[in-house]
Amino acid sequence: MERREKTLAQAIRERRSTPSFDGAPVPAEDLQRILQAGLSAPSGYNMQPWRFVVVQSPEQKKRLRAASYNQGKVEEASAVIVACGDADGWRRDLDLMLQQGIAGGMPESYAAQAKSSVPNYLSSFSSDQMKGWLNKQVTIAFTHMMLMAEVLGYDTAPMEGFEQEKVHEVLRLPMSFWVVALLAFGHARGPDKFDGGRFDINHTVYAEEFGKSFR
Ligand SMILES: Cc1cc2nc3c(=O)[nH]c(=O)nc-3n(C[C@H](O)[C@H](O)[C@H](O)COP(=O)(O)O)c2cc1C
Repeated sequence: MERREKTLAQAIRERRSTPSFDGAPVPAEDLQRILQAGLSAPSGYNMQPWRFVVVQSPEQKKRLRAASYNQGKVEEASAVIVACGDADGWRRDLDLMLQQGIAGGMPESYAAQAKSSVPNYLSSFSSDQMKGWLNKQVTIAFTHMMLMAEVLGYDTAPMEGFEQEKVHEVLRLPMSFWVVALLAFGHARGPDKFDGGRFDINHTVYAEEFGKSFR
């Protein structure tokens, strides 16, 4: 039976954080499409500092659950994508990024400029600034994946309820990795979570400057 994909607008409208999953395996090609959606995301200087660990085995999901305040959906989900940032990724990847850029039409003058400005910018960061930078970059890729999963008809659950050191241990992550969030997905079991609603646009959006009503 042919599956009908949702439009992006429909996926955004209908997405809810899923409380419980049925655990059925995800076909490899769907997983590829979800991952590729994340890897297509924009990032500062195109440095792509994200790293993802895909957890599907029952044993590893169980360990990850224990590192995530025992949240049941980590173990129940068909797959959990652990989204990380690598604080040292740019040191290794700068030349590769420039090579690929040049192959795609990046002007040589831009490449020469980036070769010095990227290290200048990123090596000036404190550890907290680097975490902030990684959170920003990785979250955009994470959101691409979450929405692609929804487009393909999966249910998703973004999660920040985990312990950094424990997830490091379970996944044997390098020291330079910073775990940003977990994306559990699969097919929902049981009823949808309640709809918590959203603040009105006047509560969160301003026109031209802070405090001016958008409407
Ligand atoms: C970054 C992030 C982290 C979250 N972490 C958790 C979590 O650890 N456990 C959980 O049950 N829900 C978690 N949520 C789900 C939120 O509670 C949920 O998105 C919010 O209540 C709005 O509901 P909705 O997603 O169904 O619209 C998280 C959501 C986001 C965006």
